[in-house]
Amino acid sequence: MTRRVFVPRDAAALAVGADDVATAIQQAAERARQPIEIIRTGSRGMLWLEPLVEIEIDGVRHGFGPLEPGDVSGLFQADVAQHPKALGPVEQIDYFARQTRLTFARCGVIDPVSLESYRATGGYAGLVRALSMTPAAIVEEVTKSGLRGRGGAGFPTGIKWKTVLETTAAQKYIVCNADEGDSGTFADRMLMEGDPFTLIEGMTIAGLAVGATKGFIYVRSEYPHAIATLNTAIAIARRAGLLGSAVAGSADAFDLEVRMGAGSYVCGEETALLESLEGKRGIVRAKPPLPAHEGLFGQPTVINNVLSLAAVPFILSEGAKAYADFGVGRSRGTTPFQIAGNVARGGLFETAFGVTLDELVNDLGGGTASGRPVKAVQIGGPLGAYFPPALFDTPLDYEAFAARGGLVGHGGIVVFDDTVDMARQAKFAFEFCAIESCGKCTPCRIGSTRGAETIAKVVAGEDPEANLALVADLCDTMTFGSACALGGLTPYPVMSAIKHFPKDFTSRSA
Ligand SMILES: Cc1cc2nc3c(=O)[nH]c(=O)nc-3n(C[C@H](O)[C@H](O)[C@H](O)COP(=O)(O)O)c2cc1C
Ligand code: SF4
Repeated sequence: MTRRVFVPRDAAALAVGADDVATAIQQAAERARQPIEIIRTGSRGMLWLEPLVEIEIDGVRHGFGPLEPGDVSGLFQADVAQHPKALGPVEQIDYFARQTRLTFARCGVIDPVSLESYRATGGYAGLVRALSMTPAAIVEEVTKSGLRGRGGAGFPTGIKWKTVLETTAAQKYIVCNADEGDSGTFADRMLMEGDPFTLIEGMTIAGLAVGATKGFIYVRSEYPHAIATLNTAIAIARRAGLLGSAVAGSADAFDLEVRMGAGSYVCGEETALLESLEGKRGIVRAKPPLPAHEGLFGQPTVINNVLSLAAVPFILSEGAKAYADFGVGRSRGTTPFQIAGNVARGGLFETAFGVTLDELVNDLGGGTASGRPVKAVQIGGPLGAYFPPALFDTPLDYEAFAARGGLVGHGGIVVFDDTVDMARQAKFAFEFCAIESCGKCTPCRIGSTRGAETIAKVVAGEDPEANLALVADLCDTMTFGSACALGGLTPYPVMSAIKHFPKDFTSRSA
């Protein structure tokens, strides 16, 4: 009997030798005269187990990992369950079993570019329903789901769509923000590599909802595998009539193109992204006008993060309530948190809002990889605040985080052990801002450099009290005087480091 073997082809798995493992498995099966079918999948998101190979035994997928080519010889013997790298049924691994996978339901499960597998697992049911609804009803469904933008700002997706729907124009656009610049984040990449049709379906539904016929996916250049997978999936969807002049045989047109960014953090900011898409230098535009009124090429544009758009097929197929039933307060649904940095079990964990930092970092993540005590985590990317363990009871929900001076952002959590020097991290926050600043406004362009210099003076013991007061004053100016959140939020990491780790700012060199 042919045995089905699943080997991930996600960039994280490839980086640790998944292709070599796949070749070794093929050879081992031939030696054991065991007919096999190797299916290349996305990642399940348990990155410390990659390459994580799965073998279907009596209809159940058993995991083995992390596998090296030298480990595969025993995979086709009768006592495979005794294999030293055997993990048992993959979906019973605690880290996986405790997730609520709505957006990532298929990621790591199916061949990402098999439209047949996508459909067999409920794919395109959302589009079919959307085609039977009016644009206003689709927008209403997304509004009722409580979905908020997963790119960072948490703006309600339905309200954004409504604005574009109600703006009259001959041409409208859907732009997907796949720049994913935040440190410790990889959920957009995993989705695009592991289940691209979910994003394509979500964008198509967005097009129907607001009357846009054209979409662009702006992907960072560091994601070549995601770009290749998306292009393949788009071509397949087009051939199947799911993109093009008559979406699924309807009277509605929608088509998609992938565009590659050039490695600038600020090009993830929506208006700089639009400039870049138009072929110009990535500089932040003044708002208003909002992109919803005048966006790409001056036309009304929905711009959403990958995860916001990829949540839409579930919302349409299962209904707004099924999504909104998850979560807490005004943070509805699920989101994939990404546990990264110095952590024992790094990976993607999709769950309802409301889980605490302690659960993610210590319980699921297993503390630091170095085995030393956790000193801090930075949540929400390079513009996010540092939280000490004393704040680990904070539930991951937009409002609870804001109340404690933090932001959930794109859900990235970077863990640091007790060897981290928080004064260096604060200085780095200013330096990062200085390097990535688009240069449009003075508080960010100049303030970031002055900030790094001033922190250096503090740690060198040069009048620390006065210089820390100067840093606080500068941060105030950046918060209130910057034209976008790059300059406006850099004070988060700086001031949280000073507030929670004051000892690191006493005299020594940075
Ligand atoms: C400096 C900066 C970088 C950003 N980078 C990203 C990014 O990489 N991906 C993203 O989706 N949003 C990013 N954003 C947020 C976008 O400006 C915008 O809010 C988002 O794309 C809207 O989509 P959403 O409502 O689905 O979150 C960034 C914002 C700023 C200020
Ligand atoms: S805050 Fe910085 S990145 Fe944003 S517009 Fe001003 S100079 Fe540009």
